[in-house]
Amino acid sequence: MHIDILTIFPEMLDGPFRESIIKRAQEKELVTIRLHNFREYSTNKHKNVDDYPYGGGAGMVMMADPIVNCIESLTSKRTYDDIIYLSPDGELFKQNVANLLSVKKNLIILCGHYKGIDERIRQLVVTREISIGDYVLSGGELAAAVLVDTIVRLIPGVLGDETSALSDSFQDNLLSPPVYTRPYDFRGMTVPDILLSGNDKEIALWKHEQSMERTRKRRPGLLDET
Ligand code: ADE
Repeated sequence: MHIDILTIFPEMLDGPFRESIIKRAQEKELVTIRLHNFREYSTNKHKNVDDYPYGGGAGMVMMADPIVNCIESLTSKRTYDDIIYLSPDGELFKQNVANLLSVKKNLIILCGHYKGIDERIRQLVVTREISIGDYVLSGGELAAAVLVDTIVRLIPGVLGDETSALSDSFQDNLLSPPVYTRPYDFRGMTVPDILLSGNDKEIALWKHEQSMERTRKRRPGLLDET
């Protein structure tokens, strides 16, 4: 997979991709991630990327020119499956969207700022709009980190144990069951004996029951989703 991220603050994304699973995925060449500062594509002599909104109102709006120029420079070299704009008014990001995106080949992720981007960018080049939650971040960079992390860990070969992504919470609209490791007895709290029974069938059943119970208690709405 190849991911191009458009941002005016590329340093914000340096850290998250240099550690842990995303770092290893890049080393194994299962994903390439490139950051592009679209300020460089501004045709304005001050390299501005934002301007006052038509019709007035608070805040600045990101101009179409630098963003569309940057995207067109990328699309002239590659065909993209999706050009994603991160915005609080996008589709709510859920595991099923991550699953879908994890099988794509080339993605562009656009991080906005201020009051948003000129509507014409959305009409012209954006193919998908995603929100990571019902709250407003100061920009799309942290949302991009969330998106990339969630997608990249699903690419086959990225996680050591191929099955471990499948047993994540939300993969079947269920929360994960509780997990334990050594010691058996921690401050008088012991591990459920079933997990030491060696009976794989019984253990699987117990895990499923625990998942159901946890989901019913904490996120009952998930049980109604398909
Ligand atoms: N940019 C600002 N807030 C956001 C959110 N909740 N999701 C995605 N991008 C955003």
